[in-house]
Order: sequence, then structure tokens, then C-alpha cells
Amino acid sequence: MENIIYHFNERSEKYNNTPLWVSSELIKNNLLKMIEHLDKRNIIDIGAGTGITLIDIVNHYNDVNLAVALDISDKMLENIKNDKIIKQCADAHYIPYNDNIFNLAIAKQSLHYMENIAQVFSEIYRILDNNGSVIIGQLMPYGNQDYDYWKKIINVRQPLRKNYLTFQFVMELLLNNNFHIESVISFRVKESLNQWIERYNNMDSTKAQLLKNLLLNAPSYYKKIYDIVCDDNDIIFYNCWYWIKASVIK
Ligand SMILES: C[S@@+](CC[C@H](N)C(=O)[O-])C[C@H]1O[C@@H](n2cnc3c(N)ncnc32)[C@H](O)[C@@H]1O
Repeated sequence: MENIIYHFNERSEKYNNTPLWVSSELIKNNLLKMIEHLDKRNIIDIGAGTGITLIDIVNHYNDVNLAVALDISDKMLENIKNDKIIKQCADAHYIPYNDNIFNLAIAKQSLHYMENIAQVFSEIYRILDNNGSVIIGQLMPYGNQDYDYWKKIINVRQPLRKNYLTFQFVMELLLNNNFHIESVISFRVKESLNQWIERYNNMDSTKAQLLKNLLLNAPSYYKKIYDIVCDDNDIIFYNCWYWIKASVIK
């Protein structure tokens, strides 16, 4: 876990300025819509990073009393400049809050850094109140067909990742941890290879070239699914995003 903390501490300053999924309006609007009718009095964002999601929520909805940004990287949390948000530097495997405190938990693009997701889900279940909800937003493969090649690409891009979340895997884990699935949306989010590379401070040119080759030489089914095209010295493609909403009944 130390290397993950180091990685995000190093990236923290640039993190918000890096485009595409981090600040995607499409991802944000889908989330805001998904939580519109949920009880949002006490919210916790698990792996909140620079708080980009939580800030959107507290700015958009005025029924939030308690908003906690939980993250293991203190430097990521330092970027949160919002008085309504409490910064909690902690590991999601051991959430330092009492049972039944929160009405809503969110985890956006953070679970893949966590060693034991079942333990994280059981922690989320514990801190949620009866009828509370969890919302998971995650970049995942489209399905079985692209899984192996997707894994190959993201392994090069982010070797620190601890697991390879698929839609099926997350659904099973939620059900096994007593959550009820409420709704799911999936959508395509545009990515640019150049901007993807830029997000990483220390990505060396060999690794960048390897990523480029993997995209350019992808099997035709993969190129088709991801709509891979070369454009002005860049490569454009479309990743698959999910928002999954589940509730707990205790
Ligand atoms: C890719 S960032 C996502 C940040 C934010 N959710 C967003 O959408 O911009 C992943 C975040 O998860 C955090 N993280 C990784 N492992 C964690 C853990 N075990 N407990 C808490 N946070 C963790 C990292 O420090 C990082 O800030």
C-alpha cells in the first residue's frame, strides 16, 4: 500500500488538471442523476482523492449535512478546498467510523487499488444506515471479449492496481455482502492516449511507446469495441464506465 500512497502523493498536484474521466461532465452528470432521490444527509466518498466528486455533490445538493472524503493519500486530500468536507486520511479496509453512520457511500475509480474488496464492502455495509445506499463508479471492460486485452493494456499503464474489476465480479461481491442492486448505467467515455500518459508524472518513453503499440496493434474486435482511431499524433478510444447503485436493508 505504501507504493500506492507514494504514487498518489506524487500525482496529487496535477491530478485535477488532468482531463478526461477525472473531470468528465458525463460521468459527473450520470452520478448526480443517480443520487437525486437518495438520502444524502451523511455521505462518505471512499478513495475520494482530491474530492472532485464530493465537491460536485455538496455544490449541487443542499441536503448534505456530513460529507467525508476518505483516502490513504494525505496529499490528495490536501487539495480539497471546501469547508463542508471533512478530510479523513484512512484505509478503506478499516473505516474509522461507527456502525450505521452514513446514508450514502460512493467509490469512484478507487476500488481497483484495494487488496481485499470483500473487506471494503463489508466495511461499507457496516457504516451504512438501514436503507443506505452505495454507488460504485468504475472503468471496466465492456465484457468477456475484451477482458484479456484490456487487462494487458491497463497492466502496463497502472501496475499498482490490485485487482481487475469486471461488472460481474462487482455485482457478485455486492450480492454476497447483502446489498440489493437498485440500478446500473453504463456509458462510453472518450480517452486520448497522450492525455492518459500525461497524467503520470514519471511514465518513461518506453512504456508510453508500449501502450501506443498495444492500442495500434490491438486485435480488430478490440479496435472496434473501443473505436480506436489515430488522430494528429494521438490515439483516441472509448472506455467503458459503469455506475452501479445498491442499497442495504438491515
Ligand atoms: C484514481 S484515484 C480516484 C480519486 C477520486 N475518487 C476520483 O474520482 O477522482 C484513486 C484514489 O483511491 C485512493 N486509495 C487507494 N487505495 C485506498 C485505500 N485502501 N483506502 C483509501 N483510499 C485508497 C488513492 O489514494 C487515490 O486517491
